[in-house]
Parts: sequence; C-alpha cells; structure tokens
Amino acid sequence: MTKKVILTGIRANNQLHIGNYFGALLPIVDMAKQHGGEYQVNLFMPDLHSFTTPIDHSQLKEQILSSIRTFVAAGLPIDNPDVHIYRQSYVPAHSELTVILNCFTGMGEMERMTQYKDKSSQLSGDRVSVGLFDYPVLMACDVLLYGSEYVPVGDDQSQHIEFMRDIAERMNTKFNQELFKLPLEVKKQHEFFGKDQGLRIKDLIDPSKKMSKSDESERGIIFLTDEPAVAAKKIMGATTDSVGEINLDYAKQPGISNLLQILALFTAKSLDDVVIEYQEQTSYGDLKKAVAEATEAFLTQFQTNYDQVDMNAVEAKLTASEAQMNEIANKTLHKVQKAIGLR
Ligand code: TYM
Repeated sequence: MTKKVILTGIRANNQLHIGNYFGALLPIVDMAKQHGGEYQVNLFMPDLHSFTTPIDHSQLKEQILSSIRTFVAAGLPIDNPDVHIYRQSYVPAHSELTVILNCFTGMGEMERMTQYKDKSSQLSGDRVSVGLFDYPVLMACDVLLYGSEYVPVGDDQSQHIEFMRDIAERMNTKFNQELFKLPLEVKKQHEFFGKDQGLRIKDLIDPSKKMSKSDESERGIIFLTDEPAVAAKKIMGATTDSVGEINLDYAKQPGISNLLQILALFTAKSLDDVVIEYQEQTSYGDLKKAVAEATEAFLTQFQTNYDQVDMNAVEAKLTASEAQMNEIANKTLHKVQKAIGLR
C-alpha cells in the first residue's frame, strides 16, 4: 500500500522567521521524526514562487540552499527514505500542470484570494505580476501532483488549501475519474497536526499584522539567523498596551497575546498553562524577559545545528529526491494529459 503524503513548502525569499518555523516547518519535522515510517514526508522548496513579487535575483540561488539547510537544522531526518526534500523547479511537472489547471480556474476565484489582495495592494501597476495573481494554482499543483492529504501551513494559507480542494474536485467531476486526491479540509488539517497548526504569529512592532518576511522593517521580525542577543532586544522592544493586565485577548491585547503565544511555543508548554502562569501580573516586564530568554536560548541552539549541517549529504539527498519526485509527478501529469485529450 502506498503511504499517505504529508507535504509543505516554504519560500526562500529573505531569511526564514519564527512564524515560518512554528507555522509550517516544525509540524512537518515533528511528523517526520515521529511517524517517518508511516507517511511519505515531502518538504520542498517552492523556488518558482520566489519572484511572484520583485526580488534581488543575485541572492536567490544562495537563499534556496540556505533555506534547505534550515529545514535540516530544524531536525528533518534526511537519512529516512520516506522523507524527501526537493526544489520545485527541478520537477517540471509543476509548471506543466499549472498551465493546464489555469484553464479550469476562474479569474474571479483568484481575485478573491486575500493574499493576492494584500500583496498586490502594496505594489503599484505593472509590478503586480500575473505570477502573483496565479500563484494559488501553482501551489495547488505542488500538492495535487503527489496526492498529498496533509498540508501543514500557517493561517494565511487556509484559503489556498480550500482552492486546491475545489479545483481537484472540479477536475475529478468534469473528467469523471479520480485524477487527484483531495487534501483534507483546513479544520481536519488542524486536528491532524494538533494545537500549533493554523498559527498566525504577529509582527512585534505592529501586532495587528502577521510576521512576514517580505516586510521592509525587520524590527518586528525574529529571523532564525538573528544574533540571539539582537533577537532578545527585539522582544524587549515589542509593542504592548496600557491595559496593565495579562490576558489572552487577540482583539484587545494583540501584542501581549502574541508574546504569550511565542513563549508557549518556545517552551513547549500549552498556551493555557502560560496564560495561567502570567495572568496575575500587572507589569509586562517579567513576561517580556521570559520570552526574550526563551528566544535567545532557542536561536543559540538552532544556529549551532545550522552550522553543523553536512551540505554534501543535503546535496546528495536533493538529487535522489528530485529523481523520485519526477517519477511520481509525471505519473499524475500523464493521467491528466490523457483525461483532457492531450495524450
Ligand atoms: P511562505 O513561504 O510565505 O510561508 C511558509 C509557511 O510559513 C507560514 N507562515 C506563518 N505561520 C505562522 N505565523 C506567521 N506569521 C507566518 N508567516 C508565514 C505560511 O503559512 C506557510 O505555511 N505559498 C506558500 C508556500 C507554498 C506551499 C506550497 C505551502 C508553495 N507551495 C504547497 C504548502 C503547500 C508560501 O508562500 O508560504
């Protein structure tokens, strides 16, 4: 019997931050460590997604390898034969299937995507690319080519998961066969991956928005590559409020709630326990200090792991995984080509 597939991708723009780490990287690494034999685990680099918004292309190749190194530093067991790491652009079926599924996707469907609305509103005129508009289709192909059911992502990607299910179902119905397996609906994904799934870590300076690597100001973002002491300072400078109480209330106290969330994640405690620990306090100093210390300790360990990653082993794994993934992806692509009358 073929194994069920857990899959996620993390783009290489800029360095990865703790939102990417907790929202996507850690859930899949934990699954790979605990259930490596039961599932096929694909952690891939969506390199064709890197320039949906303008970037410095001279940095890209290095950033791709550095992000993949981060995956391994986070604990991805690459010696496990059920674990795969690969670059999207090394598996051309992703692009080919995108061209096909574009023709079964409505303009209105893409226009409704909030990520598109947010990102395009920050760019002017011609800088809003067709690639940005269309990227949920490429993302759907990333998942559907491998029959992946479990896709750990942060809350910002929920709408894209729903779109994958829609387009998969539409194709299966139209061509009257199971061309694609449907990824689980978002709620079931959360149940499968547990408490940390569907997260939205907020920016430290403006906690009304998510921590995002495409942001210009880096003061509100904790990058995995930040000097630990610098990161601790960013935490101490986080925006809070003047309520003078510690409550988990994302609407009224978004900054404090974000710090509670980050502390729970770094100390592997439940959010409820962390809230109980701090809720009697009237000043924010101790909470900030605890979060700063936990962040510093985490980054120190993470960066030691990063330095120790054997990049020769990583390159060898990439080559092997990319060969295997081309085989799987081409099978799905061929099925679709046949169904639509190209073969
Ligand atoms: P990307 O590269 O923007 O983000 C990678 C992952 O990190 C999550 N994330 C967050 N989680 C919690 N709090 C935050 N502040 C935060 N910021 C980012 C994102 O939800 C994401 O899971 N389109 C995807 C990459 C992709 C993909 C795929 C993912 C391409 N193809 C197929 C899954 C399956 C993206 O741009 O993620």
